[in-house]
Amino acid sequence: MIMKAVVFHQPGDASVLQIEEREIPSPKRNEVLIKVSAAGMNRADIAQRKGNYPAPEGAVQDILGLEVSGIIHKKGDAVKQWNIGDEVCALLPGGGYAEYAVADAGSCLPIPSGFFLKDVAALTEVLFTVWQTIFQRGALQKDETAMIYGGSGGIGSMAIQLVHLYGSKAIAVAGSEEKENYCNYLGAYKTVNYNKEDLLEQLSPNTIDVILDSVGGQYLETNLALLKKEGRLVYINAMNGGFPKLNIFRMMQKRISITGATLRMRSPEFKENLALEILKNAYPLIEHEDFKNLVRNRLPFTQVAEAHALMDSRAFFGKIILCF
Ligand SMILES: NC(=O)c1ccc[n+]([C@@H]2O[C@H](COP(=O)([O-])OP(=O)(O)OC[C@H]3O[C@@H](n4cnc5c(N)ncnc54)[C@H](OP(=O)(O)O)[C@@H]3O)[C@@H](O)[C@H]2O)c1
Repeated sequence: MIMKAVVFHQPGDASVLQIEEREIPSPKRNEVLIKVSAAGMNRADIAQRKGNYPAPEGAVQDILGLEVSGIIHKKGDAVKQWNIGDEVCALLPGGGYAEYAVADAGSCLPIPSGFFLKDVAALTEVLFTVWQTIFQRGALQKDETAMIYGGSGGIGSMAIQLVHLYGSKAIAVAGSEEKENYCNYLGAYKTVNYNKEDLLEQLSPNTIDVILDSVGGQYLETNLALLKKEGRLVYINAMNGGFPKLNIFRMMQKRISITGATLRMRSPEFKENLALEILKNAYPLIEHEDFKNLVRNRLPFTQVAEAHALMDSRAFFGKIILCF
């Protein structure tokens, strides 16, 4: 059986993405085959397309896509929790930009109430990442303050909302006034435009409990100043550089914990446990009437090059999905 998939044969700009026919994959014992309704796009897809972020061993190498929503079409013998015909959203190690994709059964979640099937394609990567980093590793407490870099992007727009709906304060860092307005709409307590303003001048030192940083580089010193004693600094990337100078004395004096995590490389067991925790603790937040849909751009998968060019440009808010 044949499906259409977005593939790339060599790294490059958005024009390397092509639509080709492929065999529909078969689910292994613990996997489900999903008839894809939509695929969510992530900044990691851009890095992979450029040749900077290869898929982990065992994952599809030449089809991008870390998350989808759709209907279970087939399942492996060991899958008990899902049935053929169930609607799910799923985290994948790759292969999501296709009409069919396989996912580990434990990496699938049901459709939260109030969401459209297509739009939940944009949910799992940001939900798993934000829950793992701000809430698990960062141990954010109610009434504490979290600062989020890239506030208007996919991760940022989930992080602002979860922090806000959890009962904590979200401070969002963004690159334009328009992006700041979007962060405010999502529930940010305060925003800072890093292109115009100095973070340390806008925010007082020793006021932040948890920082979610995907930018890295020169902001380490600022982060150490902004964090309170016992503050937690959680890295999920270092887009501006991974080798900043650390003032070890300041870190020690303020007893700051510096940590970080990846998601894609983690085992199916880890992701399944995370999914169960999300279902219990994060689903009530995203099902809240104030939660805003993250999806702002829906493009047919045939326009994948335009969708990637949009993400390359950074001139978007929230999440972009490809519809199948
Ligand atoms: N470790 C993990 O498990 C994990 C999982 C998912 C994502 N991530 C990382 O989290 C970050 C956000 O991912 P995403 O999918 O939410 O991306 P996204 O939607 O493109 O958002 C990224 C945001 O970061 C800001 N930014 C600052 N410096 C940037 C730069 N040099 N290049 C691109 N954007 C920059 C942009 O906002 P401004 O234009 O306002 O600056 C943008 O809104 C990425 O670095 C991604 O690799 C890590």
